[in-house]
Amino acid sequence: MKPVKIGVLGLGTVGCGSVTVLTRNAEEIARRAGRKIEVSMAAVRDLDRARICNTEGIRLTTDPFEVANDPEVEIVLELMGGTELAREVVLQAIAEGKHIVTANKALIAIHGNELFSKAQEMGVMVAFEAAVAGGIPIIKAIREGLAANQINWLAGIINGTGNFILTEMKERGRSFENVLTEAQELGYAEADPSFDVEGTDAAHKLTILASIAFGIPLQFEKAMTEGITKITTQDVSYAEELGYRIKHLGVARMSSGGVELRVHPTLIPERQLIANVDGVMNAVLVMGDAVGPTLYYGAGAGDEPTASAVVADTVDVVRALTSDPENRVPHLAFQPDALTDIPILPIEEIKTAYYLRISVEDSPGVLAEITKILGDEEINIESFMQKDVEGEGVNENSSSWVPIILLTKVCREGRMNRAIAAIETLDCVAGEVMRIRVESLD
Ligand code: NAP
Ligand code: HSE
Repeated sequence: MKPVKIGVLGLGTVGCGSVTVLTRNAEEIARRAGRKIEVSMAAVRDLDRARICNTEGIRLTTDPFEVANDPEVEIVLELMGGTELAREVVLQAIAEGKHIVTANKALIAIHGNELFSKAQEMGVMVAFEAAVAGGIPIIKAIREGLAANQINWLAGIINGTGNFILTEMKERGRSFENVLTEAQELGYAEADPSFDVEGTDAAHKLTILASIAFGIPLQFEKAMTEGITKITTQDVSYAEELGYRIKHLGVARMSSGGVELRVHPTLIPERQLIANVDGVMNAVLVMGDAVGPTLYYGAGAGDEPTASAVVADTVDVVRALTSDPENRVPHLAFQPDALTDIPILPIEEIKTAYYLRISVEDSPGVLAEITKILGDEEINIESFMQKDVEGEGVNENSSSWVPIILLTKVCREGRMNRAIAAIETLDCVAGEVMRIRVESLD
């Protein structure tokens, strides 16, 4: 049988990683796919840039549409990133009857509904395993391996850069900026690294996971997103004293009124396996009604780990080239006409426990004022810790300020928002209250 020709959009970290893996493991991959796979052309921005992969035999162009329109190319790997140009090129490739493999979570989270519907019309596949959690086959696990289950909730560390930063801050006391620069050099970070540290990238991935877990359309704009930029090394060590680790977590939960969809820094009990997932590693915990909790762990970013998922999708597409389009695995796990419109809950309605760090004046009665506000909102305190005055210093009026740390029991976010707003107006409180959500994941 003739080799399948593929065209690659982008020869950066993931594009080059994919070419390298396809070349190095060509024989084994052909035995698995049933046909040889050949990269015939690739689009890049700069033809003169040195590449970390061997591009011999690959026709290079600066026009991605040339790849999308090439009659010989049967599968297009979209590995250039971005949303608008990527959407146009992918739509063009679909219109030309080509199958798509992409690692681009922003593209899927924002334009996935449109792309899947066009792909359905054309009878082609859009595969996106590499878009979530790097090399971990989490899409396949949920979409196929857990197909018997009602998924109750899932929670994951799904941004490698963010986890790498938090780990280095905790283990080596390194500064945020310094670790971010290293993550960029290692090829982990997005082209715009604010996507990693502000939680946007994790929200893209969580949006995709929620859709395949609950059978709902992709709704990125409704995800609540908070990044790790406000986390200090103090918070990391206070959390540790309380028996917790701070992780940037994506949580999607089916509850009675709708679906929770949120990414934010989270205190997790240190006994939980996921609390010990460090560096660029990712992990996703999925709770199914039949199977119970299952945990998936692996590298969340980087050239070859991501290529592992890109190439696996490519093999799946090659295997399916001859199969009936009606009987392929649906893009979002559920048949397109069986998606439901369960609402995404407003963040005010979700319930979690909270870690609060409050800088207060070191004088009598302060704690009573704060606990009264919490009590008025029916928020119970789980534990309390007061740190030394040196930790916070002395303000411009020479008053002493000390950090107090409160862990609360589970309460509604709306109540906590009101309590925090009231606490921040107290004269005995300085600056903003630091709030980190707590998940027991039991
Ligand atoms: P990257 O290293 O910046 O590579 C991007 C590639 O796309 C470069 O080769 C660039 O060409 C090419 N490109 C960009 N715009 C182009 C245009 N208009 N026309 C032609 N070529 C263009 O990015 P990456 O880290 O590989 O990420 C690629 C995608 O994978 C993104 O969607 C990202 O979110 C996703 N992803 C990345 C990782 C990771 O660990 N890095 C993991 C999972 C998913 P030049 O080289 O000539 O500039
Ligand atoms: N920038 C992403 C991360 C790449 O750090 O997780 C993998 O999706």
